[in-house]
Amino acid sequence: MAPTLLIVYHSMTGGTRQMAEAVRDGAAQEGSVAVRLLHAAQAQAADVLGAHALVLATPENLAAMSGQLKDFFDRCYYDVLDQVNGRPYACLVCAGSDGQGAVRQIERIATGWRLRRVAEPLVVCTHAQTREAILAPKHIAPQELARCRALGEALAAGLALGVF
Ligand SMILES: Cc1cc2nc3c(=O)[nH]c(=O)nc-3n(C[C@H](O)[C@H](O)[C@H](O)COP(=O)(O)O)c2cc1C
Repeated sequence: MAPTLLIVYHSMTGGTRQMAEAVRDGAAQEGSVAVRLLHAAQAQAADVLGAHALVLATPENLAAMSGQLKDFFDRCYYDVLDQVNGRPYACLVCAGSDGQGAVRQIERIATGWRLRRVAEPLVVCTHAQTREAILAPKHIAPQELARCRALGEALAAGLALGVF
């Protein structure tokens, strides 16, 4: 059976979604890995248990991960605990200007699940500062999407080769 890479994301104005889709597209180039992209509201504990590697993707809202990604963790945490020890993960954060608060929160939860970080957190800043810019649809720059695609390729290659 092909190893599965699960990407769980939430996005309000589209930036994180574009990043998560780019990871998916990069990973899909490695033909022998099954790639699943799930919105945080749809993702269940069974999806996490069935995945060989995880990507967790969120906007930074109020110096934290988004409420919907937090809800995913709240719903799944204890059904997953102790059953995914050592599985590789990476995180994506789309932020206006920071992103580190969301990274820290995801890393703490990933530590609780005993996941293994296999890539540096990938943070993209959209530099939205005003109310209008923050609420507007986001267009992630091609070079940032290329970083996301490269992460997807690397994760899928690691899974396919069994190096994680
Ligand atoms: C309610 C709210 C709070 C935010 N708080 C932060 C913040 O604490 N730090 C930051 O860097 N960006 C912050 N932002 C900006 C978003 O992270 C940024 O617009 C990002 O592109 C959102 O990702 P998305 O397009 O996937 O929704 C905030 C945006 C909103 C709507």
